[in-house]
Amino acid sequence: MKSISLILILCLMLSAAALAESAHAPEKEGSIDYMVLVNKLNPLPDGWEDALETVHVTNSVGDDVAAEKRAYEAYLALAADLEANDGIHTELDSGYRSVAEQQEIMERFTETYGADYAARTVATPGYSEHHTGLALDLYFIVDGKTVYKNEDLVQYPEIWRKIHTRLADHGFILRYLDGKEHITGYGYEPWHIRYIDDAQAARDIMSQPGMTLEVWLGAVEDTDPVIDYGSSALYSEADLEAAAVQIKCKFASFAGCALHSLRYAGDACNSEENLKWLSGLDGGKNYIQVIEFLGDFHTPVDPSDGSAWEPDTEYTDYQWWLAHEEGKGWQLLSWGY
Ligand code: DAL
Ligand code: ZN
Repeated sequence: MKSISLILILCLMLSAAALAESAHAPEKEGSIDYMVLVNKLNPLPDGWEDALETVHVTNSVGDDVAAEKRAYEAYLALAADLEANDGIHTELDSGYRSVAEQQEIMERFTETYGADYAARTVATPGYSEHHTGLALDLYFIVDGKTVYKNEDLVQYPEIWRKIHTRLADHGFILRYLDGKEHITGYGYEPWHIRYIDDAQAARDIMSQPGMTLEVWLGAVEDTDPVIDYGSSALYSEADLEAAAVQIKCKFASFAGCALHSLRYAGDACNSEENLKWLSGLDGGKNYIQVIEFLGDFHTPVDPSDGSAWEPDTEYTDYQWWLAHEEGKGWQLLSWGY
């Protein structure tokens, strides 16, 4: 009797140990890392697509959208939550994209909106979070009207606020935050949500204003740069802000560097000489206005291979030059000394 209970206890202990182990065991071989970081500096990991399981759905405008299986299940729960509690009907505009699909989008955006907008909105093929299947772009139907285009979607901040409030409970975060372009590399995208398969981590990220996945994972430090727009008789603050966003998006690809400040150089930058120089740089384009910013940033202690930076150095008064053609947005054309 005694030995039978001993065996029973031993069996129970062993199965409890096995359970505890399976709860903490690494995911099965061939499964994906839901915390993966894909951005301007980190391409899609090799072999990702071999382990990726996707589902395909047709959205309200008849497009086929694919998404990673668990991300899609979580999206369905999020959509049901929004429908039931906020009366918001969301749809999926985009999910998993192959490198070839990303290339097509880049070309379409460059043609429709110009290279400047495309560069801060569409990732270089191979470096898009959409390749993971974990990034989803949402649109919605409001008062029977389908709101689908980026420029229309940004007109509904109150709807986005409600959507963003519910993301974390379903394991999603908002990826491209307003003001964090120097970290993420892209302008504000209220529609681009990212599944991380961990509601607690998502709550932690979403409850800290300005927290990005890059900083949360410890991949970069946020320096929260000071931007000084000075005063201008030529440009509105909105103009200068749009130019600064372009600079910050580019800065995100300066590996390991920390942006400290940007300041508008003053209206004298808009000279005939500078217009001629910048127009000549870009295949003889007819630029009509110029903006120059000066910036300070710090280089890494140990710059990665091939980097020309002086290690651990503050670069001051680094120049950033932008110009625009008639009726078009600011184009970042030159940076350096
Ligand atoms: N719009 C995001 C940045 C992408 O193209 O992946
Ligand atoms: Zn997206």
